[in-house]
Amino acid sequence: MGRSRELSSCDEKGRRIAIITYGCQMNVRDSEVICGLLKKDNWQLTTKPEEADVVILNTCSVRQHAEDKVWSEIGKFKTRKLANSQTPKPIIGLVGCMAQNYREDVFKRAPEVDFVVGPSDIAKIPKIIQRIMNSKLQTPNSKLFESKIWETDGGLRPDEIYHTGFYLGGKHAYVVISEGCSNFCSYCVVPYVRGNLRNRDCRDILREIEEAIDKGINEITLLGQNVNEYESGVRSRELGVRSQELGVRSSEFGVSFIDLLRMVNQIKGLKAFSFITSHPKDTTLDLFKAMADLEKLKKYLHLPVQSGSDRILKLMNRGYTKEFYLDLAKNYRKIVRDGVLTTDIIVGFPGETEKDFQETYDLVKDIKFDAGYFFKYSPRPHTLAAQFRDDVPREEKERRHSLILKLQKEISSRSKGKSKK
Ligand code: SAH
Ligand code: SF4
Ligand code: F3S
Repeated sequence: MGRSRELSSCDEKGRRIAIITYGCQMNVRDSEVICGLLKKDNWQLTTKPEEADVVILNTCSVRQHAEDKVWSEIGKFKTRKLANSQTPKPIIGLVGCMAQNYREDVFKRAPEVDFVVGPSDIAKIPKIIQRIMNSKLQTPNSKLFESKIWETDGGLRPDEIYHTGFYLGGKHAYVVISEGCSNFCSYCVVPYVRGNLRNRDCRDILREIEEAIDKGINEITLLGQNVNEYESGVRSRELGVRSQELGVRSSEFGVSFIDLLRMVNQIKGLKAFSFITSHPKDTTLDLFKAMADLEKLKKYLHLPVQSGSDRILKLMNRGYTKEFYLDLAKNYRKIVRDGVLTTDIIVGFPGETEKDFQETYDLVKDIKFDAGYFFKYSPRPHTLAAQFRDDVPREEKERRHSLILKLQKEISSRSKGKSKK
């Protein structure tokens, strides 16, 4: 994979840093951004945490299991950190969504961690590491846990962090178009750990893509928790000649997601692009028409349905009904010929009855997704659903999970068989 190649090709001498990434594509991109900033600061990257002077864990809080994996990974460094020997002890940083979720409480649970940085503060990481290194140099006999730093109050990320020109893939790059989320689906921790939705200025997004192309990238994925909600505050008038040049209709209200897709489609040197994730409540037929029209845009739509029961969808605060979703899926298939459709589903949400589950099962059978990602409900701190009783027993969640997984496997293998003919 491009990633390990890039990381291990670095000079083995000098100060070395390793970063371990958990969670979604947003975190993959954030790790890249962090690496880009540190490389500018003369750090060498390594894929071997056991050899690194600094180890960063870029973490995910979406389900309990995601957090458990990180706590146990940190445990592995404990021995090395507490060893009473001359071997150099790594500086350990916990960043990303768990950092925001636990803030300075991380140090209580894992005293071997030296710094904690939330997703909005990643620009500060190089300076934080420098501060910790300096403090250790000044006081060589200082106690191990003396210098703790945490930064979890940041707002907007500075634009520059997206322009270090460092991409792990040789040809493909992730490009963030919006940060955070303000949808507050009742089960989801993301709005609490990533903050409210902030859209990047479309001019800065286009600039980043053009710079990436100069570096040899020819395919990109636009990233956001709900890309369909994207709207750049920039008026087309301010965008001026650029919008005409790129063939975008001038709009009174700024640049919509579909406008952005049209602009990206026009960029010279770009071969293909896609986007993730779409929220059904903001997905329109105009998007499907744009997908059909724009020749560089991949015919791929990830449209998480979460549940096929209207009662559960309402409790989840998703803002649409089963009928609405079925209609969207039907139109997508009609308008975007040979388009791929994938989804996410949660089983065992509080109060989910056998009948509710059956409706989800039937929806999967009916729509025949090309792929599905199925999750067992996990109560998350801060969320509204955490106040509901998590009343579907673990074994029942597992039963529903394996039933729906089995169904999807059958559907996927049948559709693969078909496409081979
Ligand atoms: N912004 C994206 C991704 C959110 S997290 C979106 O809206 O689709 C990715 C998936 O994790 C979600 O789609 C959901 O299916 C699942 N998920 C989120 N919170 C969860 C929880 N508390 N328990 C189980 N699955 C969850
Ligand atoms: Fe979470 Fe909902 Fe936002 Fe997706 S849209 S990140 S599920 S709150
Ligand atoms: Fe996880 Fe944070 Fe992504 S909670 S799914 S890494 S936005």
